[in-house]
Amino acid sequence: MHIINQPELLREKIQELKQQGLTIAFVPTMGNLHDGHLQLVRQAKEKATIVVVSIFVNPMQFNNAQDLQNYPKTVEADQRLLEQQGVDIVFIPSPEVIYPNGLEKQTYVEVPGLSDCLEGELRPGHFRGMSTIVNKLFNLVQPDYACFGEKDFQQLAIVKKMVIDLAMPIEIIAVATVREASGLAMSSRNNKLTPAEKEKAPLLAQIMTKLATDLQNQQIDHTRLIANASAELDSNGFNTDAIHIVDSSTLQPVDSDSKAIVILMAAFLGATRLIDNKIVNLRH
Ligand code: PAF
Repeated sequence: MHIINQPELLREKIQELKQQGLTIAFVPTMGNLHDGHLQLVRQAKEKATIVVVSIFVNPMQFNNAQDLQNYPKTVEADQRLLEQQGVDIVFIPSPEVIYPNGLEKQTYVEVPGLSDCLEGELRPGHFRGMSTIVNKLFNLVQPDYACFGEKDFQQLAIVKKMVIDLAMPIEIIAVATVREASGLAMSSRNNKLTPAEKEKAPLLAQIMTKLATDLQNQQIDHTRLIANASAELDSNGFNTDAIHIVDSSTLQPVDSDSKAIVILMAAFLGATRLIDNKIVNLRH
């Protein structure tokens, strides 16, 4: 496994591989890897001969300096996991090589419509930072495929649209959320839960599944369904941050053209914000 820190060296290596006609699948990460990330790597391996993973905690997508500072960094353990998975290249750049002129003067990529709603409203600038770094990494890695988890549903929708809008020759592979046996969606944030919180956490997915069943049973009063789910979470020790029921392609309110709905949930358990989502297909 090659570990590369400099963009020029990555470019050289990629050029060499491309000259041999090899296909490349890419998994961008911010490190602190868990089985959800490894599932992305496994999918990448099925798609292409060469798998490239990046580990870069992107300052441009944090709205809070403290969050950036506290972001868990476990690079050595991450490298061991990637080596065991048979990854070919790990790109670990520093913020200085990615943003040599600082963040203020950085050209950015923004996907209008999908970036400023829902999570984007709560975290201004987050998705601009995310799409900008993904774009930059795509330009360096030049992958044929790139794998993203469905767990970050809005991120995945934004990346898919960016690739289409900017005519990038990359196929985006959406990978289903990996769950613990309890149903809890895997996340680096789960490590921050206390043992008591960890026991309660699976309720988020359970309440979301109940909401999905009610939606499928044509109970269309979304406001009431959201209020019920929120009350149930709060009475079980969560602090509901947001529940949305929106069209899964536009992330806008559901209308008669909607083919599928997505339920997006975010709730605090103590200091930890957990997110999850579920797609409900509509019968027309
Ligand atoms: O999902 C993440 O870990 C990040 O948003 C990503 C895609 C690696 C961009 O920094």
